[in-house]
Amino acid sequence: MHVLITGAQGQVGQELIRLAPADFSVIGLGSSELDISNPEQVVSQISELKPQLIINAAAYTAVDKAETVSERAYAVNAKGAENLAASSAALGIPMLHISTDYVFSGDASAPYKETDSTGPTGIYGASKLAGELAVAKQCAQHVIMRTSWVFGAQGNNFVKTMLRLAQSRDELGVVADQHGCPTSAASIAKALWSLASQYSNKGNLNWGIYHFSNMPATTWHGFAEEIFNQAVAFKILAKVPQVNPINTQDYPTPARRPAWSVMDCSLIEEKLNITQSDWRDELREMLKEMAI
Ligand SMILES: NC(=O)c1ccc[n+]([C@@H]2O[C@H](COP(=O)([O-])OP(=O)(O)OC[C@H]3O[C@@H](n4cnc5c(N)ncnc54)[C@H](OP(=O)(O)O)[C@@H]3O)[C@@H](O)[C@H]2O)c1
Repeated sequence: MHVLITGAQGQVGQELIRLAPADFSVIGLGSSELDISNPEQVVSQISELKPQLIINAAAYTAVDKAETVSERAYAVNAKGAENLAASSAALGIPMLHISTDYVFSGDASAPYKETDSTGPTGIYGASKLAGELAVAKQCAQHVIMRTSWVFGAQGNNFVKTMLRLAQSRDELGVVADQHGCPTSAASIAKALWSLASQYSNKGNLNWGIYHFSNMPATTWHGFAEEIFNQAVAFKILAKVPQVNPINTQDYPTPARRPAWSVMDCSLIEEKLNITQSDWRDELREMLKEMAI
């Protein structure tokens, strides 16, 4: 099966390319080769490449910057997703699309289900939600996979930031009142390839919106502590810095983050046979790769 991956230079995009099963022929395009916000480019590339499946890993992911360049965030996350979905639907090509826990308000205290009401607190989440709605409206054969707190060896993410800060500081404050589930880019890529294989084998899939993250839930503070402990074990850091728990209000950011963005991932297991891995094991894999 011939698969087109957009946003191929991103964290998830690069893992999708790295982990592509041998029985798929994969073409990955970065933003300079296919700008999904450009409708003409989308139409011409898709008609020329004739993929049998599209995986959209492209997105505007600068959560804070999105507050000031909202037009760009909407152009990529909403219109870009819509462009892909419209072209896919016109040619009968299914689409696997990635979305985010930031579509939720964060006011809950139980894991969010797919049927729970959305209510993004910032432009990034709102633009991603608009993208979800556009994909669902334009392209009936879609899987929208909402994920959270993505990390991996490629690209920028919280793990890399923590490791960089720990090089120059003995002590740092990390937010301890936001709850969520870190998720490795590799595990997202594996889940998406499993869906692609199921579609390739059956010619069909249980289309719809699903939640997928690693487990268990933690806070950024809990995540940071585990990062430092593992980094010392891998000799990436000489010693564990002191990690002081702080509140969101002590670390003001342009975009308000949800205090609770834990998602219930039972539906994707039940309908699509995708199970959750432990982010601490996924982190070990990432650091092992970095330590070599
Ligand atoms: N990162 C997270 O913590 C997180 C959390 C939840 C959900 N997600 C979702 O997971 C998916 C993958 O995110 P990620 O972490 O892999 O993000 P990422 O590393 O920022 O990668 C996104 C990629 O999209 C590309 N892109 C931006 N604008 C584009 C455009 N107009 N046309 C084509 N490509 C474009 C970027 O290329 P340039 O760099 O060249 O612009 C970048 O390579 C996204 O849907 C994101 O919303 C991410």
